[in-house]
Amino acid sequence: MIAIVNLLYLISVILLILGLRNLSNPSTARKGNLRAASGMVLAIATTLFVPLESGDNNYYWIAMGIIIGSVIGLVVSNRVKMTAMPELVSLFNGLGGACAVTISFIELYGFQEVFGDPSLSQVSYGRHATTQLAMLVGAVAFTGSMIAYGKLAGKIGDWQIPFSTYINIVFLLTLVGLIGYQVLYPDESFTLPLITLGLALFYGFTFVQPIGGADMPVVISLLNAFTGIAAALAGIIYESQMMLIGGILVGSSGTILTILMCEAMNRSLFNVIIGGFGGESGGGKDRGEQVVQEANATDVAIMMRYAQNVMVVPGYGMAVAQAQKTCKELDDVLHKYNVNVKYAIHPVAGRMPGHMNVLLAEADVPYPKLFDLDDANRVMDESDVTLVVGANDVVNPAALDDPSSPIYGMPILEILKSKNVIVMKRSMNPGYAGIQNPLFFHEKTKMLFGDARSSIENLISEVRTLG
Ligand code: TAP
Repeated sequence: MIAIVNLLYLISVILLILGLRNLSNPSTARKGNLRAASGMVLAIATTLFVPLESGDNNYYWIAMGIIIGSVIGLVVSNRVKMTAMPELVSLFNGLGGACAVTISFIELYGFQEVFGDPSLSQVSYGRHATTQLAMLVGAVAFTGSMIAYGKLAGKIGDWQIPFSTYINIVFLLTLVGLIGYQVLYPDESFTLPLITLGLALFYGFTFVQPIGGADMPVVISLLNAFTGIAAALAGIIYESQMMLIGGILVGSSGTILTILMCEAMNRSLFNVIIGGFGGESGGGKDRGEQVVQEANATDVAIMMRYAQNVMVVPGYGMAVAQAQKTCKELDDVLHKYNVNVKYAIHPVAGRMPGHMNVLLAEADVPYPKLFDLDDANRVMDESDVTLVVGANDVVNPAALDDPSSPIYGMPILEILKSKNVIVMKRSMNPGYAGIQNPLFFHEKTKMLFGDARSSIENLISEVRTLG
């Protein structure tokens, strides 16, 4: 029986790893998701058949949990809007942390009950220490993710906690000290584990609250790594290789994603954690009074209709306007006139990793038309018209030439290499980094003000009337 269970777990792990591998490319991502999900289903089903030492079974409770969880999951994921996806991810992640806290708490309770029993070995005390660690990491992931959710949903503001960096260091050291003490001097009292849990939950709050709302995708990815670590620790507690490997996969992929996002913004993780980026205006050269050139839909339609190559640069504004399908429609119309349309995707365009890829895939834009940062910059000089659809920071040339700018050094899409630039946005408001964009005042640039979707709809009808 055990051999069969282990074999099924091995197959589940292989499916998870293959799924992750497939997720690294848009063309195989759907398959990857299905593979990983079937690995998870197999692991859960296998676990249900593992005989329990006590002989009791809780199938009734397990079935209730699975039914309630699946119904909520199905309803929520069907209803969620693409722009609210990061919120959903943070909620799911928080629930993972809550699971780790719950199982650690039950385990700790069990340990305190049998404390002092001469049959307890060193291994039991080691397990006790691991349980405390899982509870700490899970609690931070839980409250941290809930705060991240609140910030992304606009329910919690970006108010600062005075001296938060120092408060967080004190909290962390206190928690490590508390756990160390309980490992070295275990006793049957349940007071210290309760204090540790309370402090860890509060630490999750003080850790995430000072970080700017717009940095939440990076934080969620970091907290996701924490949940993975908590799950891996739970795997050690239950001696379950499946849980251990699954946790390690989540922990390591979350860590890699966090590092990649920081690299794409040219910021350190520390810089993200101490906050101070995004939201308020400031930084950059004072460029004095400058004028912008405004275009109308007819001018832009003529430029595009007679262009050979058009580059579309989507950003957060495309997600807000839900303009992805209209973009594809414009692409189809231009295609009839032999205009070649490509899409330049910056790795942190939007508000979550792969945000633009997901939206454009939803609109059936073929993958070969999507160019990543380096490839897009390589062919940018071939573009006759570059159409910026609600992107701002990811095309800000201050990142290249203004050392006083907060985004100096961030790799950007170098759209000024193209012959003409059209920027679609609703106002002169800055983007996420809160800084003005000199691109808007450049001689090659024309601004097409308005909601991106209506502007593109106007462009489509203008191009059609040109025949
Ligand atoms: P942003 O710099 O945030 O600019 C978005 C632009 O869209 C704004 O200029 C806004 O101008 C415009 N906009 C909003 N709604 C619109 C609508 N309905 N129609 C037309 N335009 C609209 O976006 P970006 O260029 O995609 O850059 C992303 C930023 O997020 C980067 O700074 C990045 O570092 C940061 N960030 C990203 C991630 C990930 S993983 N993607 C993670 C953390 C941080 P108006 O208000 O004037 O319309």
